[in-house]
Amino acid sequence: MLTTRRRFLAGVSTGLGGLVVGCGTTQTADNPGGRGVGAASAGGSGGTTTGGGSGSTSATDSGLLLDSGGCIATNSDAQGPFYRLGTPVRSNLDLYGEQGDRLQLSGVVRDGSCQALANAVVEIWAADSDGVYDSDSDEQRYYGQVATDGDGRYSFTTISPGRYLNGSTFRPAHIHMKVWLGDTNLLITQIYFAGDPYLDVDPLAEPSRTIVLAQSSGLVQGVFDVNTNA
Ligand SMILES: [Fe+2]
Repeated sequence: MLTTRRRFLAGVSTGLGGLVVGCGTTQTADNPGGRGVGAASAGGSGGTTTGGGSGSTSATDSGLLLDSGGCIATNSDAQGPFYRLGTPVRSNLDLYGEQGDRLQLSGVVRDGSCQALANAVVEIWAADSDGVYDSDSDEQRYYGQVATDGDGRYSFTTISPGRYLNGSTFRPAHIHMKVWLGDTNLLITQIYFAGDPYLDVDPLAEPSRTIVLAQSSGLVQGVFDVNTNA
């Protein structure tokens, strides 16, 4: 049994009430949330990509927009219906020999003062290469959580997720993320990939959470830094 979780937290809200889409269905604000405590330690952050930005801000790492005032908080996105309690504590999700690019996703979690946040827990979940979520098996394929290290870093190895239909249109490929500090949920969001042809037609995708992937040593690598309000 891969699942490790000690506590459940119910009724976490992100202010995304009544959002449509998420993962192909209408949903209310949040499903009950939960997380594992004592997650695996994080690996290093690749730092190979840059994210989107606009206006007077500048992008340094994916998902991180900086201006003269410091970090701008990473914004939230729909949780969707496929979040599962008891996310396995593991940084390697590429365990099933599926076709597709092997993807390293890494970054830094920061607090509301733009300082690295150690011991935050980062959960991710995504569809497989065919665009299907593992919504019920004990394996919880492509679900995992790690704790940030002393420099606020997290890292996962997984595969590039597939797209799936949302109504009559594909959603762009994405990875869901949920960030915790203790029992407090800091953020629920989704990460997208530059160049995806469905970004422009998706109501949730936005440049600040769209990362550029770079090829490196048989991997594609992307960086998504998270600025929280903690
Ligand atoms: Fe999704």
